[in-house]
Amino acid sequence: MAKRIDVKDLDIYYGKFHAVDSVTLSVPPRNVTAFIGPSGCGKSTVLRTLNRMHEVIPGARVDGQVLLDGEDIYASSVDPVQVRRTIGMVFQRPNPFPTMSIRDNVVAGLRLAGTKNKKKLDEIAERALRGANLWNEVKDRLGKPGGSLSGGQQQRLCIARAIAVRPDVLLMDEPCSALDPISTLAIEDLIAELKKDYTIVIVTHNMQQAARVSDQTAFFNLAGVGQPGRLVEINDTEKIFSNPNEKATEDYISGRFG
Ligand SMILES: Nc1ncnc2c1ncn2[C@@H]1O[C@H](COP(=O)(O)OP(=O)(O)OP(=O)(O)O)[C@@H](O)[C@H]1O
Ligand SMILES: [Mg+2]
Repeated sequence: MAKRIDVKDLDIYYGKFHAVDSVTLSVPPRNVTAFIGPSGCGKSTVLRTLNRMHEVIPGARVDGQVLLDGEDIYASSVDPVQVRRTIGMVFQRPNPFPTMSIRDNVVAGLRLAGTKNKKKLDEIAERALRGANLWNEVKDRLGKPGGSLSGGQQQRLCIARAIAVRPDVLLMDEPCSALDPISTLAIEDLIAELKKDYTIVIVTHNMQQAARVSDQTAFFNLAGVGQPGRLVEINDTEKIFSNPNEKATEDYISGRFG
């Protein structure tokens, strides 16, 4: 549970396109790190390299290292499927299996991994749904389809699905962008809870959200069209939002950007 991430000199490519230039950063365990920056600067790309989702894109590759508690997740001995289980991901649009039951959505990954015992799966489903702060709303309708939930509930269902396999890290790419303000606050409260057990990296376009939920903030930027995105600075969220080291960061967070 809750492992440390160290990214070292990471260069990321889509074919010949150099998308992200030389990122070095660390995320301590039980910490929430927010990635902010303008559209196209590489936030999602960097996030996907943290659990090897990047390499499923044809032609995509990385140079450099991503260490999970000191172990290189790109080492040749490492199974990428196992990496994606250990480092879970929640996407921008809630993506439950719409016709599958709520309960089965949560335990889908475990069943794939071979767990068959019904009682055990029920226990795990309950624990994950409690962890995702959804249990009270769904405990009487676990057999109903995942698609019958509201958007905010579906996003919490996806978080339950991600934590059911007990990952070490949770990656979230704009998890609230499709949600209303109340569901957004529910997810933010949940992130504060989950931080006790997980290392969390969240991409957000919402500055207030970054300020509310994260311990440290990484600002990414683009030097120009066709140029690779780069990490401008990473620091304590309080410092980034009150007195950043770089002028570009200040311009971006104060809305004087572009
Ligand atoms: N599958 C892909 N194939 C080729 N290029 C890609 C692919 N995905 C992203 N890119 C390019 O990589 C760069 C970084 O994109 P990325 O999606 O990481 O940006 P982002 O910071 O997440 O932007 P946004 O805030 O709009 O989500 C962009 O120039 C984008 O066009
Ligand atoms: Mg993105």
